[in-house]
Amino acid sequence: MDSGPSFSPMLRSGNRFDQEAAHRPILSFEQVHKAYRSDAPVLRGMNLSIQRGEFVFFTGPSGAGKSTLLRLLYAAETVDAGRILFMGREVGRLRPESIPFLRRNIGVVFQDFKLVMNWSVAENVAMPLEVLGLPERLIRTRIGEALERVGLGGRGSDVVATLSGGEQQRVAVARAIVGEPALVLADEPTGNLDPQLAVDILGLFEDIHSTGVTVLFATHDRSLLDVRPRRVIVLQDGKAIDAPNGLDGDIEDELRVA
Ligand SMILES: Nc1ncnc2c1ncn2[C@@H]1O[C@H](COP(=O)(O)OP(=O)(O)O)[C@@H](O)[C@H]1O
Ligand SMILES: [Mg+2]
Repeated sequence: MDSGPSFSPMLRSGNRFDQEAAHRPILSFEQVHKAYRSDAPVLRGMNLSIQRGEFVFFTGPSGAGKSTLLRLLYAAETVDAGRILFMGREVGRLRPESIPFLRRNIGVVFQDFKLVMNWSVAENVAMPLEVLGLPERLIRTRIGEALERVGLGGRGSDVVATLSGGEQQRVAVARAIVGEPALVLADEPTGNLDPQLAVDILGLFEDIHSTGVTVLFATHDRSLLDVRPRRVIVLQDGKAIDAPNGLDGDIEDELRVA
């Protein structure tokens, strides 16, 4: 079943990569093209390189292609041309039976949480582990750890529908990290939250990042980019443009000269 050393089913990060992979970018886009309609290309020859352990903001106006970029990465969409390399593997060429290995190494958090509202917190967080067929006791331990990390320790038996929006997003973050993925993608994760909660949730992703996880955080919310200097990539005309000094430089200026 195993599709090769870089997608070993080991769950603890650190054990799961071959030595060589540790020195390559965790992720690269090479001349990626994507259009849903031929007259409206979204990505037009996008190039991008992300190192293991980076925290990167993706920004750009609504419709710029942020969600498309992330969906291509976790294989919910396919590229028209070019290639995406994740942990040394070309995403578009993974065999169907290798897709679970990809998903296991990528945790995703969405704007609308995508939780099962009438399930308990623990049942939602357990989902990525249950498909792996881990022993029940290990699953329970992992759920407990993940809930502690998002500030929801002891809340496992609560029904998700009874939680506040901010708490629900914490559940979604716990579900994204419970399998200890190498990469966490966040697609406008704070879009449905008020500004203070948005900053709290951003802090949660920063905590996750501090444990060595690579984080890609898509947002059109400029105020979040100002919280801390970070690598900022602007999607513009179907390409990825690095804002050279994070937000020390002015993105608006970058866009004008681009
Ligand atoms: N499934 C789809 N079918 C057709 N067009 C789509 C689809 N998904 C996105 N688009 C279009 O692609 C463009 C980029 O969308 P998206 O990646 O969602 O941008 P962003 O996340 O930056 O707002 C938009 O013009 C959007 O309307
Ligand atoms: Mg989007």
